[in-house]
Amino acid sequence: MAQFKAQFPDNFYWGGATAANQIEGAFDEDGKGLSAADFVEYIPKEQRTKDNAMEITSEQIRKTLSGESDARHPKREGIDFYHRYKEDIALLAEMGFTAFRLSIHWSRIFPNGYDEKPNEAGLQFYDNVLDELLKHNIEPVVTLSHYETPYGLTEKYNGWAGRETVDHFVRYAETVFTRYKDKVTYWITFNEINMITISPFTGGGIVSDKEENPIQAKYQGLHHQFIASSLATKKLHEIIPNGKMGCMLARMSTYPNTPNPEDVLKAQQDNRQNLFFTDVHVRGEYPEYMTRYFIENDITISKETGDDEILKQHPVDYITISYYMSSLSSVSPEGEVTAGNLNNSLKNPYLESSDWGWQIDPIGLRVALNDMYDRYQLPIFIVENGLGAYDKVEEDGSIHDDYRISYLSKHIAQMKEAIGDGVDLMGYLAWGPIDLVSMSTSEMSKRYGFVYVDKDDEGNGDLARSRKDSFFWYKKVIESNGEVL
Ligand code: BG6
Repeated sequence: MAQFKAQFPDNFYWGGATAANQIEGAFDEDGKGLSAADFVEYIPKEQRTKDNAMEITSEQIRKTLSGESDARHPKREGIDFYHRYKEDIALLAEMGFTAFRLSIHWSRIFPNGYDEKPNEAGLQFYDNVLDELLKHNIEPVVTLSHYETPYGLTEKYNGWAGRETVDHFVRYAETVFTRYKDKVTYWITFNEINMITISPFTGGGIVSDKEENPIQAKYQGLHHQFIASSLATKKLHEIIPNGKMGCMLARMSTYPNTPNPEDVLKAQQDNRQNLFFTDVHVRGEYPEYMTRYFIENDITISKETGDDEILKQHPVDYITISYYMSSLSSVSPEGEVTAGNLNNSLKNPYLESSDWGWQIDPIGLRVALNDMYDRYQLPIFIVENGLGAYDKVEEDGSIHDDYRISYLSKHIAQMKEAIGDGVDLMGYLAWGPIDLVSMSTSEMSKRYGFVYVDKDDEGNGDLARSRKDSFFWYKKVIESNGEVL
């Protein structure tokens, strides 16, 4: 067989990705209002009943607001990026980052979500951060909503369950497009839009116990997000003519557990349930297979006149994904189960797992990229990938995270192969380049970074930053444009 050498294009973006609520802290500084993330509680591992603690009840909210709760809310503290962004961005620049993904914490700009005027101090903060990135020639990639629905919208409309939230979102989007039009080209509407069907509170500020029919509410909330995304895309193109709007999907690839055709069918259905979100964002209409799903599950989406046209006229410009692992689909529930990003899976005997049970599958990334490119023929940007692991600080302060280097290099090698297969891949942003608060567990000990942050699960530590072995490794990867892995 003749040799073929895949390689990264010269304009490939290398960098990392974060979310405001997992890094900034300063949750009530300079006029910021509360958001969904500010209610998420840290539950020590031994007290956890499942590997996430993202859903929040009315009672938890009441206790938090009245001061009766003694729960910790680590996302309120983050890693103090709010005050240390200059030092942090300098570290990213030292690794040679050419792109950095951040989210704007919506409630810094509109503290309640429905306020008439934006909060100038919030707008100024992101001006400062964006200027700092541009000073280092780092392209910002900005997410408008990364699990940060303002609490005011939850109180008033039960978050995205209410149609009113669409207008408030579009006003917020318009405000930041206008303000940052000379600084930001690449935008993303909703982080992992599929989250709203898994944890409606995290994904949509929807408190499920307030709803008579929670399943109905989450799909209705999703419809509102689809409409909001299309309307924001329309505004973006009006305000920033060369602006690019991306959607974001947690790609949850799944294989049949056995060659039994029933398992194969189940895997196809599960994959469709995941790709449904990008189908709507890219093709601008609900796929037929969802009509059947909605009927069988007693779900009726209420649409306003013109909704179908809005979806059709304003699809996204590019696709972004997070990819951490793959799963198995089976019609029989027997077998060992392991935890995963957003859902659990049967254990795949061919794969190793992370310290949190997520199944590590670099080849799965190549498969996922090829599948998505075959399906949509739109540029794809990997805006999250990485390994959450325990790190050990040696006596001399060094951190030998060879497990992280191994995970990342195998995934990057498969990305390169996918490019060789013909995928139009724009860039790679590793998740959490600086250690941050875990989304699903609110732990600090689940670390993804190239940069270590001195803080533990109980909040102790002086927040000092230090370089792990992977820091020097990633610098070389970027320098060599992915040749040295
Ligand atoms: C993605 C989220 O699902 O996974 C991030 O977009 C999150 O916010 C990341 O941090 C890793 O998940 P976790 O639960 O390990 O923090």
